[in-house]
Amino acid sequence: MIITIDGPAGSGKSTAARKLAARLEIPYLDTGAMYRALAYAALQRGADMRQEADLLEVARTATLDVDCGPTHTRVRVDGHDVSEALRDPRVSEVTAFVARVQGIRDLLVRKQREIAADLGSLVTEGRDQGSVVFPDADVHFVLDASLERRAERRMHEMIADGHEVTFAWVSENLQTRDGIDSRQWLPLLAAGRAIIIDTTDLKLSEVVDRLEGEVRSRCRTAAHSG
Ligand code: DC
Repeated sequence: MIITIDGPAGSGKSTAARKLAARLEIPYLDTGAMYRALAYAALQRGADMRQEADLLEVARTATLDVDCGPTHTRVRVDGHDVSEALRDPRVSEVTAFVARVQGIRDLLVRKQREIAADLGSLVTEGRDQGSVVFPDADVHFVLDASLERRAERRMHEMIADGHEVTFAWVSENLQTRDGIDSRQWLPLLAAGRAIIIDTTDLKLSEVVDRLEGEVRSRCRTAAHSG
């Protein structure tokens, strides 16, 4: 079973996806971590973030290993576990530059499909998982929330990670990222093929209950019709 969860930064999709995977006892793939890992490698190698050819060269030559479990996605670059370093604000700032290089997207999309083929079942989370990578997934979700709530959540996460940030900085940063990241899940919504959940006024446990309920009801319907 493949379940896709897409949405903007701060919509709560990463934590919800991880918790859903744990409840369903299937692996969880954080595809943002794959883009972040290549951004991390580009920073390490001193690549010019405006030069697509340089970024593509980093992506082609870096060895990226992704380990997915029901409660984690761990990423190694050239043999080093960088999973924690990927949350550094410097990495967050430049990842969008990496993610807009089409050659890099093609490479990672291929890798994501290989991971799914290997594992069989997956809760996968990102921006393009339902629209581009797994259009035939069993269930597609899109999570969204107001900018204010997204900024509030991101700020608390960053403070918990030990970064000193203000609400104003996080909110401005999110708006910039919204502008760079294209809303790749929109075609899925336009076609009525995704379940959209507005998480603005929902607690995390309520979001996960909703996701799990939808998946289980789809499974029951599929079992009856099959
Ligand atoms: O979800 P995140 O904040 O970890 O994503 C990091 C960056 O990668 C962000 O700029 C969006 C981009 N991204 C993407 O373009 N496609 C994905 N499937 C996942 C993330």
